[in-house]
Amino acid sequence: MHANARWYNRTVITQNKQQADIDLIIQSLSENGYVVWDNFLSASIIAALRDETHKRYGNHNMRAAKTGLINQAQQSAIRGDHITWLDEQDENSDIQAYFKKMHTLKDMLNQQLFMNIQSLETHLALYPIGGAYLRHLDQFSYGTNAKSRQLSSILYLNSNWQADDGGELRLYLDEIDYLDILPAAGKLVLFLSANFWHEVRPAKRERASITGWFRSRDSLIF
Ligand code: OGA
Ligand code: MN
Repeated sequence: MHANARWYNRTVITQNKQQADIDLIIQSLSENGYVVWDNFLSASIIAALRDETHKRYGNHNMRAAKTGLINQAQQSAIRGDHITWLDEQDENSDIQAYFKKMHTLKDMLNQQLFMNIQSLETHLALYPIGGAYLRHLDQFSYGTNAKSRQLSSILYLNSNWQADDGGELRLYLDEIDYLDILPAAGKLVLFLSANFWHEVRPAKRERASITGWFRSRDSLIF
């Protein structure tokens, strides 16, 4: 599918490359339920977002992520990342560039795939060396926000990531088959939150990303 998307990319003639990219992302998503896409934002914006993530981590502005139901001691065995939620009013121009492109994407999801996305929640994530996130689904089966997450997105920020560094996103396509995706700078992964089990493999380097969820509605209780 990814190869397919690249092939289409070479055949599209347009003066608006950004819009063409989004059209192809939407097309792959509608065919497969997931898409892996390189160079979602420029290298300079990605580098700035990476620096910002490491800065906030270094300044202790990120906290150990939670999974919901269990205590902190058990948490880190399940999920090792540190996060900080992003505010759409953030004055950082690179964060604004991220939100702008995500909103363009959101509009296309609604217009072309009728997804009825109403909001976006995002956080920066930093996995310390050895940190992982065990196999899970992004839709919870409990709580006030259960099932509002429709589409998961992860944008990776890590320069010069090698296969040997680990830290793959393992995306299960069914019970047996999976894709291992390296968290390399500028790569965007989208998948339907209800459909794809996934996990983060432990890495030999710190691993930075922006995770986002396109949500259909808030506060539905199931
Ligand atoms: C998550 C998640 C995957 C990744 O934050 O829920 O699954 O590759 N992240 O960072
Ligand atoms: Mn997840």
